[in-house]
Parts: sequence; structure tokens; C-alpha cells
Amino acid sequence: MSDIKAVILAAGKSTRMHSGFSKVLHKIYGKSMLEYVLDDIRAIGIKETLIVINNQNWTGRKFPLPKGARIIFQKRLLGTGHALRQTQKVLSSFRGDVLVLYGDTPLLTTDTLRKLVEKHRASCAACTLLTVTLKKPAGYGRIVRDEKNDIVRIVEEADASLYERMIEEVNAGVYCFNAKEAFRALASLKPKGPKREFYLTDAVEILAKRKLTIDYIHTENPDEAIGVNSRLDLARAQTLAKNRILTKFMDLGVGIIDPITTHIYNDVEIGQDTIIYPFTVIESDVRVGRKCKIGPFSRIRPGTVLNDGVEIGNFVEIVGSSVSSGAAIKHHCYIEDSDVDKGVNIAAGSVIIKNKIVNRNP
Ligand code: UD1
Ligand code: MG
Repeated sequence: MSDIKAVILAAGKSTRMHSGFSKVLHKIYGKSMLEYVLDDIRAIGIKETLIVINNQNWTGRKFPLPKGARIIFQKRLLGTGHALRQTQKVLSSFRGDVLVLYGDTPLLTTDTLRKLVEKHRASCAACTLLTVTLKKPAGYGRIVRDEKNDIVRIVEEADASLYERMIEEVNAGVYCFNAKEAFRALASLKPKGPKREFYLTDAVEILAKRKLTIDYIHTENPDEAIGVNSRLDLARAQTLAKNRILTKFMDLGVGIIDPITTHIYNDVEIGQDTIIYPFTVIESDVRVGRKCKIGPFSRIRPGTVLNDGVEIGNFVEIVGSSVSSGAAIKHHCYIEDSDVDKGVNIAAGSVIIKNKIVNRNP
């Protein structure tokens, strides 16, 4: 996509997460929340992304910066509006659109993001935002509309009247702005609340008062709009992500006997007609062939390759190892950094570390 850049706001204090590091670096099935958002941006074809961070809660954390991404620092944490303002210098001569996302919304779908950008471009709005209807909207900014049903402002829960708190349509935290209008509006933001923060959401009211078009798309899928502020939100997002991942595998022909107790990380590859039995965890960087049986109660860890027809049974942990086709490791074993030859049957209770197990009767 041309004439559009993305900005991810990821500098917040993460107070409600009670963590020593930024919440956007917390992982869901092997991938940080920030990477989920970055992957979505890349998938819709946006080539340049600015990530606004704060040095303090990123210290000591490694984050592989993808191609086309650049870090901008927000030194003082003065709210989402202030965060976006930090990108103004870099974007001063840019005349296109900016897709602004929060780093704590990992479950957005590319389909929705694409629709949002398309609608924004078609209507030439100053701002197009994503809204969602929640039965329990607590914590989210409410969408306030006028008698013509036009969006006139977003009110944060802390500032909302009793009536406004009953509004179920909320701000999902995704905005496509005309860059020039956005920075003009940001310049007029006033600090609010006890923390004297500048809310990005107030830019919507400023634009609406200037009679500029505020457009929106509404997603029917409330799951994709989840904003992760606390550990409880993270656990919820994790369950939703798990169901997405398992559905993808089942659609590819992988049998999952018990989706509730099965955990498969994002980048795992599994071949058709493999069956995963209950209480199995398959972590990042694992490849599983076709017609394997894994579990129950198995843990397959990074750097492992299980070739076609391998059988892994109960209470087996494997890490950094390769198991050739037809081999079986069926009960109470630990295998680390080893190679298991074709058709080998590993005895119950074996511990094999940095070894090569050869089949003497192939
Ligand atoms: C925000 C929205 C709310 C919306 C909700 C959706 C505002 C004022 N409110 O609330 O309307 O319904 O998201 O999930 O925007 N951040 C910075 N710098 C800061 C503060 C925050 O970069 O100074 C980043 C955070 O890292 C986070 C994002 O901005 O990724 C949103 O901040 P957060 O505190 O999570 O806002 P919410 O209270 O969830
Ligand atoms: Mg949030």
C-alpha cells in the first residue's frame, strides 16, 4: 500500500499488568503482542511502521526490529495523544494517511484492517476508526454519536456520565488518520485527569468540531478488539488466540482430540492426519510431519523435528532433537539435542542427551 504509514503506540507504563517490562512484549503462544500487530501491518502491505516506545520498560528486552520498522521514543509518558505526537517530526513532510494502532490489541484481523483503510480512502475522511459493540464495555472509550448518528467524540470511562457509560459501542483503538489533519488536531489537545494526560481519543472531537468527516467501520467480532491491559485480559486473549491456532490446524487436516488442553505455538508446522492427544504442548520452532501421534501429556520444545509417522507417547519431553520417520518414543522419556534414527523404538524411562540413536536392524 502506498501513501500510508503505520504507527504503533507501545510506550505505556503497563501499570495494570504489574510487570517489570512493557506489556506489549508479553507473549501469546510464542509471539509478543507487538509482533502480532506488526505482522498484521505487514500483511496488509504497509511498508513503513513507527513504533513509539519508552526506554524504561524495554530495557534488557531483545526485540528483533522487522524491516521497515523504526523506533521513536516517548520520554515522558503523557498519554496516547502525546505518544502519537512524538512521530510528528519524522512525519512532518508526509501527506498521506497514518494507520494508528495500539500495541496491546493482538487479535485484530487483517481483513478488518484492510476494510478500515479502504473505507477511509473511499470516503476521504479525516479519521476512520474501528468500533465494536460490547455487552460489558467497562474500560473502553465509548463512541458518542449525534442525532444524525455521526460520531462526535469518544469519551473515556473515567470521564463518562452515567448515560454515556451505558453506551455499548466502543473504541477498539485503531484509527486511520489523514496525517496532516491528525497532527493539527493533536496540537490542540488539552491535558486531562489526575495524570494530566493527552488522550488521542480527544482528537476525534476536535476533528468533528472542525466539520471534518469522521468515518468508522464496525466489527461484528468482539474478540478481535480485545485490548490487553491486565493479566486477566492476557489470559483471555491467550484462549482466543489458542482457538484460532487450533482451528487453523484442524482446517489443514490435523486431528486435535481435546482443544481445551492442547497448546500449539504460532509458528509450528504440522502435517495432515497427525493426531494430537490431550494435554500436549508444542512450542515454537517445531516441525511435525504427517501421520504422527503425539501425546497425551507430551511437551515438544523448540528446535525439534518429528518426521512422518513418528509416535510420541505420554510424559515425553523432546527439545532440539530430530526424530526420523516411524520412530516411537512412547513413555516417560527426556530427549535433548539428539537424533533418533528411522524406526527406532526408545525404551520407557530413557533419558537421552546429545546422542545419536542408530537403528541397527533397519
Ligand atoms: C485506550 C483508549 C480507549 C480504547 C482502548 C482500546 C485512549 C485515551 N483510550 O484505552 O478509548 O477503548 O484503548 O483498547 O487512547 N501508550 C503510549 N504512551 C502513553 C500511553 C499509552 O504509547 O503515554 C500506549 C500503550 O503502550 C498501549 C496503548 O498506547 O499500547 C493504549 O494505552 P492503554 O493505556 O492501554 O489505553 P486504554 O486504557 O486501554
Ligand atoms: Mg489498552
